[in-house]
Order: sequence, then structure tokens, then C-alpha cells
Amino acid sequence: MNEVKLLQRRYLTIAAIIAALFVIAIAGYMIPVEKQDVPARIVMDNTGGRVIFSHQAHAEDYGFDCIDCHHDDIGSDTFLACGTCHPAEFNDDFRVNHQKAFPSDEACLRCHDDVPTAPLAEDERPDIENIPLRAEAFHTQCMGCHEENGGPYGDDSCYQCHAR
Ligand code: HEC
Ligand code: HEC
Ligand code: HEC
Ligand code: HEC
Ligand code: HEC
Repeated sequence: MNEVKLLQRRYLTIAAIIAALFVIAIAGYMIPVEKQDVPARIVMDNTGGRVIFSHQAHAEDYGFDCIDCHHDDIGSDTFLACGTCHPAEFNDDFRVNHQKAFPSDEACLRCHDDVPTAPLAEDERPDIENIPLRAEAFHTQCMGCHEENGGPYGDDSCYQCHAR
């Protein structure tokens, strides 16, 4: 093999390596980051007056685990908004939209006996008696923990959470 050919082959090898690295770098940008950001503050507008929830302080400073509040570990990397399962009302809007709101079918089984594929027969409808609606889910969880661990709860506490 003469020297020119040898050099050409080296250039080709280097070019191939650079191309490969380039592909890996692009892929690195395109694959979504797995870990979700922890929201710092969450503003909750509602008829009782706006609540500003110090999410990060609760998650990092007060010594709780994510699943102390995000009680539904449905086997995904993401935590769902509470309202995904605790709507303001189990109405037509929920009936239609919730079916696409979950990252996997595992979540369906929280409320359904099987993964539903069609409109439900009367006896297949989830028992919604035990699933608190949105405001009740928040009040129960927020104040339940505060009663045990500190933080506002009880009849006089409304405006420690709600803006007047
Ligand atoms: C003290 C209770 C509490 C703790 C602890 C907590 N969270 Fe939350 N988190 C909430 C509440 C309440 C919301 C608001 C959900 C809503 O608006 O429906 C929320 C919202 C979120 C959201 C936004 C969800 C969405 O789609 O709107 C993410 C992401 C999240 N939390 C991640 C975490 C992670 C990660 C941890 C642990 C490091 C954690 N949280 C710890 C109560 C908590
Ligand atoms: C994937 C669906 C799902 C998500 C997301 C979810 N929940 Fe629930 N939650 C349920 C179901 C179903 C029940 C009914 C009781 C049971 O089966 O555990 C329930 C029960 C509750 C209860 C009453 C029982 C108890 O543990 O005291 C509270 C309070 C509650 N949820 C608050 C919340 C809050 C606050 C969030 C968001 C931080 C949240 N839930 C997110 C499905 C969910
Ligand atoms: C937080 C509880 C909950 C979760 C989680 C849940 N569902 Fe439902 N689902 C309901 C309720 C409540 C209804 C309404 C029942 C009724 O009409 O009385 C319903 C109804 C349905 C219906 C019937 C709609 C119609 O027009 O009658 C389908 C289909 C369905 N769900 C699919 C799913 C699928 C698929 C998943 C998972 C990806 C899922 N659901 C997760 C509570 C839930
Ligand atoms: C798992 C336990 C837990 C849950 C759930 C919880 N808290 Fe707290 N919260 C605490 C503790 C503990 C403190 C007191 C921290 C201190 O005073 O050192 C606190 C303090 C607070 C305070 C006063 C200090 C601050 O950080 O603003 C507010 C307001 C508050 N919580 C709102 C909420 C709301 C709104 C929810 C529901 C969305 C909620 N908390 C859910 C444990 C909890
Ligand atoms: C620990 C914080 C906290 C305390 C204390 C608290 N709330 Fe709330 N409240 C919330 C949160 C969080 C929500 C739900 C916000 C949302 O839906 O996004 C809520 C929702 C509400 C709603 C709206 C209900 C709906 O269906 O839209 C009313 C009304 C309300 N609270 C009244 C009160 C009253 C009255 C008190 C005092 C007896 C009180 N709250 C105490 C945090 C609190």
C-alpha cells in the first residue's frame, strides 16, 4: 500500500469518528431529560382566594419525600397534577379528556378494574365515592399533614393559605 492511500484511509477513519460523535451529540439534545424539574412555587387560583404553594420549600426544606404528597406512584418518571385524577367535577369534560391524560395504562387501573377500551357498561363505572374532588383532595392533604407536622390548619387558618 502506498503512502497516499494510507493517509486517505486515516482521513476516512477520522471523518467517520467525527460523524459518529456528531450523531451522539445530536441524540443527546433530542432525548428528553428524564428527571422532572421541581416547581418552586405553584399558584392555585380558586374561589376561596388565590393560594401560593411553596412547593420547593415543602419538597426540600420541610423534609418530606415526593410520594408523601404525590401519593400515586403510577410507575412513570413524572408526577401528575393532582387534578388529573381529582377533577373539580366528574363531568363530561373529565369523561372525555382523562382517557388521554396518563403516561401509561397502568394508571387506568387506579380507578378501573381493567383498561377500558369503549364506553362503559353501567356496572363497569368506577366507584367515585372514594375519590375526593379537587378542592377536597387539597384541603384533606394540606391540612391533614399540617395538623400532624405543623403548618396552617383548622377553621381560623383560611387566610394563611388563601389571599383575601
Ligand atoms: C408537601 C407536598 C408535596 C411534596 C413533598 C412534593 N410535591 Fe410536587 N406538587 C405538590 C402539589 C400540591 C402540586 C400541585 C399539583 C396540581 O396543581 O394539581 C405539585 C406539583 C408538582 C409538579 C407539577 C405537576 C404538573 O404537571 O402540574 C411536579 C413536576 C412535582 N410536583 C414534582 C415533585 C417532586 C419531584 C417532588 C420531590 C422532590 C415533589 N413534587 C414533592 C405537592 C408536593
Ligand atoms: C393517578 C391518579 C391520582 C393522582 C395523580 C393523585 N391521586 Fe389522590 N387519589 C387517587 C385515588 C384513586 C384515590 C381514592 C383512594 C385510593 O384509592 O387511594 C385518591 C385519594 C386521595 C385522597 C384521600 C385519601 C387519602 O390519601 O387521604 C387525598 C387527600 C388525595 N388523593 C390527594 C391527592 C393530591 C393532593 C394529589 C396531588 C399531589 C393526588 N391526590 C394525586 C388518585 C390520584
Ligand atoms: C381517577 C380515576 C380514573 C382514572 C385514573 C381513569 N379513569 Fe376512566 N373513568 C373514570 C370515571 C370516574 C369515569 C366516568 C364514569 C361514569 O361515566 O360514571 C371514567 C370513564 C372512562 C371511560 C368511558 C367513557 C364514556 O364515554 O363512557 C373510558 C373509555 C375510560 N374511562 C378510559 C380510561 C383510560 C384508558 C384510563 C387510563 C389511561 C382511565 N380511564 C383512567 C375514572 C378514571
Ligand atoms: C406532607 C406534609 C405537608 C403537606 C402535604 C403540606 N404541607 Fe404545608 N407545611 C408543612 C409543614 C411541616 C409546614 C411548617 C414548616 C415550618 O413552619 O417550619 C408547612 C407550612 C406551610 C405554610 C406556611 C409556610 C410556607 O411555606 O408558606 C403554608 C402556607 C403551607 N404549608 C401551605 C400548604 C398547602 C397549600 C398545601 C397543599 C397544597 C400544603 N401546605 C401541604 C407540611 C405539609
Ligand atoms: C393549607 C392551606 C389551606 C387552608 C388552611 C385552607 N385552604 Fe382552601 N384551598 C386550599 C387549596 C390548595 C385549594 C385548591 C386550590 C385549587 O383548586 O387549585 C383550596 C380551595 C378552596 C376553595 C375552592 C373550592 C372549589 O371547589 O373551588 C374554597 C372555597 C376554600 N378553599 C375555602 C377555604 C376555607 C373557608 C378555609 C378555612 C376554613 C380554607 N379554605 C383553608 C388551601 C387551603
